[in-house]
Amino acid sequence: MIRFGYVSRDQLPERLQPSGRLPELSFAMLAEFDDKLSARDEVAIEIISRLDTSRTTYVRRHASLDDVIEEEIERNFKPTDAVRIHDAAVSNAITSVNLFEKVKSRSNIALHASDHIVELLAVTIPGSRWRVVFDAKKRPLQFVGRRMVLPASNRRPPRGYPINRLIRQILRLTVLPQARRHLERAETSPSDNIERIGTFHPRAVALARRDSRFSLGWADMNVPLAGPFEIVRAMNVFFSATPKQVEDALQGICAPLVEGGLLVVGQNLLSTDENLTTIFKRQGRQLIPLRDIAGGARAREVALGLLLH
Ligand SMILES: C[S@@+](CC[C@H](N)C(=O)[O-])C[C@H]1O[C@@H](n2cnc3c(N)ncnc32)[C@H](O)[C@@H]1O
Repeated sequence: MIRFGYVSRDQLPERLQPSGRLPELSFAMLAEFDDKLSARDEVAIEIISRLDTSRTTYVRRHASLDDVIEEEIERNFKPTDAVRIHDAAVSNAITSVNLFEKVKSRSNIALHASDHIVELLAVTIPGSRWRVVFDAKKRPLQFVGRRMVLPASNRRPPRGYPINRLIRQILRLTVLPQARRHLERAETSPSDNIERIGTFHPRAVALARRDSRFSLGWADMNVPLAGPFEIVRAMNVFFSATPKQVEDALQGICAPLVEGGLLVVGQNLLSTDENLTTIFKRQGRQLIPLRDIAGGARAREVALGLLLH
């Protein structure tokens, strides 16, 4: 009938599983973690990082692919060559930490990890016990109360809990418009009622602080980043993309790819840890396939037909 949620880190249950019927965890809880993490904290961060479910990532997801990338670096670049990697669309960037750890002993290496969602906005409503969490595009994601957490977007209505559904409906009519007004006002004058919460994994943030070769930032794949890069990687981004969307994103991330540079693109099967990936080499305006792993990437055909700008 009714379902509560976890609002702060100290409320988390001892046992937390990253799969199955997930408890509702406040996205605002992300602000409470530093890089000293228990196993339970790691699971909580993994669950929260999914946000509205399209951002799934997890530690060592690309472990076998990272081995292959290390091999291809040895094969394609001289020991003295600079190897600058752009890891695009990384969610919380934990897989970028894994890749960097794998290749960091090489001299002249750098890795920049990016995503188009890098912060959330938690809006406190004065006089109310509810906060509303928005993404940076100001789409409402969650209502966070004292013990209850409810999805605010239409993507995940709380099925099977009529009281939760009712409370959510009331909040959408009352608290949400107020939160939106706060956000609008904050565009012209700063507001104490809005907390900005970074979405990168605390271990990625800590690594970026202590090693200048690893950096984190905002980027939309469709808009070329300032490069150059010797390697560009995009994993698990094209699940529901049309061929045109794949093409635009590949054009964007490949624009700063150097001649002879590598594009690594692919996806994981949900049921296994296999990375269905293709590694391409840039030759002039074309992408030439070098290596297919587990049958290759879904984006392979689009990449093959591309004439880079
Ligand atoms: C399923 S996650 C994949 C995370 C990581 N690459 C992995 O394989 O574990 C997909 C990510 O793509 C990001 N994304 C989707 N469209 C994007 C775009 N146009 N530009 C940048 N990031 C994008 C989402 O925000 C999300 O974090």
